[in-house]
Amino acid sequence: MLPVRSRGPSPKRPALFGSASFDPSDATHPEENHPVLCQGRVAVVTGAASGIGAAAARAFAALGMKVAIADLPSSSDKLQSLGKELVNVVGEANVLVVPTDVSVYEEVCKFRETVFEAWSEVGILLNNAGVDGGPDGKRGTSWEGLDAWHHVFNVNVFGIVNVQQAFIPAMLYQENPAMVINTGSKQGITNPPGNTAYNATKAAIKSLTEGLAHELRTKADAHGTARITAHLFVPGWTFTGLTGASAGGEKPAGAWSADETVKYMLSRVAAGDFYVVCPDNETTPEADQLRIMWAAADVAQGRPALSRWHRDYKALFEEYMREGHALQVKVAAENKNK
Ligand SMILES: NC(=O)c1ccc[n+]([C@@H]2O[C@H](COP(=O)([O-])OP(=O)(O)OC[C@H]3O[C@@H](n4cnc5c(N)ncnc54)[C@H](O)[C@@H]3O)[C@@H](O)[C@H]2O)c1
Repeated sequence: MLPVRSRGPSPKRPALFGSASFDPSDATHPEENHPVLCQGRVAVVTGAASGIGAAAARAFAALGMKVAIADLPSSSDKLQSLGKELVNVVGEANVLVVPTDVSVYEEVCKFRETVFEAWSEVGILLNNAGVDGGPDGKRGTSWEGLDAWHHVFNVNVFGIVNVQQAFIPAMLYQENPAMVINTGSKQGITNPPGNTAYNATKAAIKSLTEGLAHELRTKADAHGTARITAHLFVPGWTFTGLTGASAGGEKPAGAWSADETVKYMLSRVAAGDFYVVCPDNETTPEADQLRIMWAAADVAQGRPALSRWHRDYKALFEEYMREGHALQVKVAAENKNK
């Protein structure tokens, strides 16, 4: 069973399959001369005290942007020390350190006030704060751990909703372009078993970010004024606090560093992509593409839920991946020879 038919490349519809996995050191830099990712614009990052958020804040400062960083008050020390590091790059007037719990709307509004009082605009709003379990780190199952469910939804989903509701109305008045980048996960797209509550939050983030993109686009069509784009940032396996980095130790070979993931994300949002699905050293873009199409086909073809992990479908899934990869290689070779 093949996932798609090759219709050949066209200017509007580029070849379906890329030819090789992404090497971050080869990334092009469309963010150079970009109207948002540039010196003097403002970047706002939640969950900035560690991992991907901290790497993004450093990357924005390296571009000469003003940077406002937020994280839980309990992570204040790490946030302050990142703030000092950023001050050394862009200067004190261009850094705001604002301990903020994104799950509390009033705190998010105060964060917005601080940013707009200082700089009167936002260029990039990176909704990055996220957790994968309850306040005690424990995960729920589908019928246990109600507190963990509430916590993971309050941070991952309502954290983003709070930030969107607090910041976007003010950003709509800006004349210059801006971006909202929401951090999802492959777990919200292919839904691997193991942490259903986290997966459900990331599926909600996909849905709410797609809706946001459409609403912003429709507003722009109607009034010709809104210049805000939305982007769904889907990190691959990245070595951070969420995936064991806080315990110390070496980055596993299969994972990307947070810097690599951020570099890839910036190159894709600067190029205008809505879906930014990052690979890592273990999973190629081609493998992601096949897995995503298999998950969508569960619904379209009426297969059992999560058939990829269903014993009756194991052999079929493996065959699909083998044939899909073979087709990808063939299409890539044909495209190369054109
Ligand atoms: N690391 C990965 O492999 C991976 C993969 C897919 C998606 N993600 C997503 O990337 C984002 C960043 O995670 P990370 O991997 O860098 O992990 P991380 O734990 O290093 O960073 C998450 C940050 O969010 C902060 N945070 C938690 N609750 C908060 C709250 N209520 N208010 C403000 N800040 C809060 C934490 O204190 C932490 O600093 C998350 O949304 C995560 O779901 C990560």
